[in-house]
Amino acid sequence: MIEDLWYKNAVIYSLDLETFMDANGDGVGDFAGLSRRLDYLQALGVDVIWLAPFQPTPNRDNGYDIEDYYGVDRRHGSSGDFVEFMYQANKRGIKVLIDLVVNHTSSKHPWFEDARRSEKSEHRDWYIWSKEKPENSEDGVVFPGVQETTWTYDKQAKAYYFHRFFEFQPDLNIDNPEVRAEIRRILGYWLQLGVAGFRVDALPFVLESAGPDHTKPVMRFEYIREFRRFLQWRQGDAILLGEANVLPEEIDQYFGKEGDGSHLLFNFYVNQHLFYTLASADVQPLIDALEATRNIAPVSQWAHFLRNHDELDLGRLTDEQRQAVFARFGPEPSMQIYERGIRRRVASMIGNRPQIELAYSLMFSMPGTPVLRYGDEIGMGENLDLKERDAVRTPMQWCADPQSGFSMAEKLVHPVIDEGPFGYKHVNVEAQRRDPDSFLNWITALIRLRKECPEIGWGQWRILPTGNPKVLAIHYSWRGNTVLVIHNFDPHPQEIHLSLKPENETRLVDLLANEQSEADEKGVHQIRLSSYGYRWFRAGSLSYLLNLAE
Ligand code: NOJ
Repeated sequence: MIEDLWYKNAVIYSLDLETFMDANGDGVGDFAGLSRRLDYLQALGVDVIWLAPFQPTPNRDNGYDIEDYYGVDRRHGSSGDFVEFMYQANKRGIKVLIDLVVNHTSSKHPWFEDARRSEKSEHRDWYIWSKEKPENSEDGVVFPGVQETTWTYDKQAKAYYFHRFFEFQPDLNIDNPEVRAEIRRILGYWLQLGVAGFRVDALPFVLESAGPDHTKPVMRFEYIREFRRFLQWRQGDAILLGEANVLPEEIDQYFGKEGDGSHLLFNFYVNQHLFYTLASADVQPLIDALEATRNIAPVSQWAHFLRNHDELDLGRLTDEQRQAVFARFGPEPSMQIYERGIRRRVASMIGNRPQIELAYSLMFSMPGTPVLRYGDEIGMGENLDLKERDAVRTPMQWCADPQSGFSMAEKLVHPVIDEGPFGYKHVNVEAQRRDPDSFLNWITALIRLRKECPEIGWGQWRILPTGNPKVLAIHYSWRGNTVLVIHNFDPHPQEIHLSLKPENETRLVDLLANEQSEADEKGVHQIRLSSYGYRWFRAGSLSYLLNLAE
């Protein structure tokens, strides 16, 4: 059954254990805390939790520096707490994705410790070495301004080792079959403990082989298919969600032409153009980005998001477009990072409720699967006093109690936001639950609506001409059902005329308000949108259940 592809219409919620809920009062979030908050997540309506890395780590890159792939960092609890959490999540019908961080290990990982000891070490060839400093060692740093090189000399090893990211994250040598066998063991281990799949960290770099003399990296896309095959043999419905900020012409290789690569990929390309469109009200670049990423295999799927735990990366925009986004959403130098991005959260960046709603309504209605970041459902802000990307990694704001109800400890892993309009006394779950007009209640309704529109995850889509450069209309059809979503990026109200004559869709029922639109005798609908307004319609009748039979 095609419906078995559960990821086509799931709502994913991403969180970092460290800052979500601290049950034992040591100032760091843990599995026991998260387990207590599962009822909250279930009520919010999310189907999947994506957990940031929680394995033992020196924690120099927010856990993306792992020193043991088969454990739980003691700060977050025990393996027993993990299994208990899995049981509790699955009991509520919530699936769990975890990060697969195998481009690199921590430099404290026993494999690297062994590798540096001698050229004869068992794990020497698990990493990438060079006797001489390669010529291109300053190229390709991922964190410009903070990271200086991709090759660092190790005295003990008497050689340079390659690291795409920080120097404490040595890259694994993916060409070594033993490394790939170990990656399969890691997949197998966590599948056995019940996870539904993996968010594959830094996918392009995982697949990049150093090449014979380190001068020309070679992409080995066969490895993603190899991991996929293994995954599917072990667990038929498990998925890979790849982190690959790549150009449209490269996506085929990541998804696999037949859909035999990564099941899902984050759509960074659309994400960046979406922010440009929010900044400029010009919908054409967003339309172009959607069209450029349209052709994927039927089993493949995009994951759409507004923000994640990193910077809002604008590297794929033109300089002019990027400056426009900076000017609107991150004008201060302290808000910008790595010469390409913004280190702010959605609500503080956009700054007004109608446009924030517009952004989420759009994200939830683009062709793909929506991914929501913890805290964004209540409109949390950032703390620019924290370093780099930590600005957007502050503790979840549960209530107005000290430490925002996140922890009983005095000192926390990151301080809570306690000042200004985004401080926890103003922005928290408890207050918003009681307020029918809160953002939390609004987004809960949006999640429900998205789940009632399977056409978006499954359907054929096309952009309808609106005759207005500030208004975007997307038409979905699936099994004789139609959903139509319309977004006005302008602060001024707009009126558009939509011809649905070819489809003979004469009646559109508004899914958010008690209204409907009847076409005139030429088959044209006249539709009004408020300032930053958005409307979701279904053609014919409110219910999609009518035509579902196969
Ligand atoms: C991408 C992750 O999202 C980021 O947080 C991390 O620093 C790098 N990969 C390195 O693992």
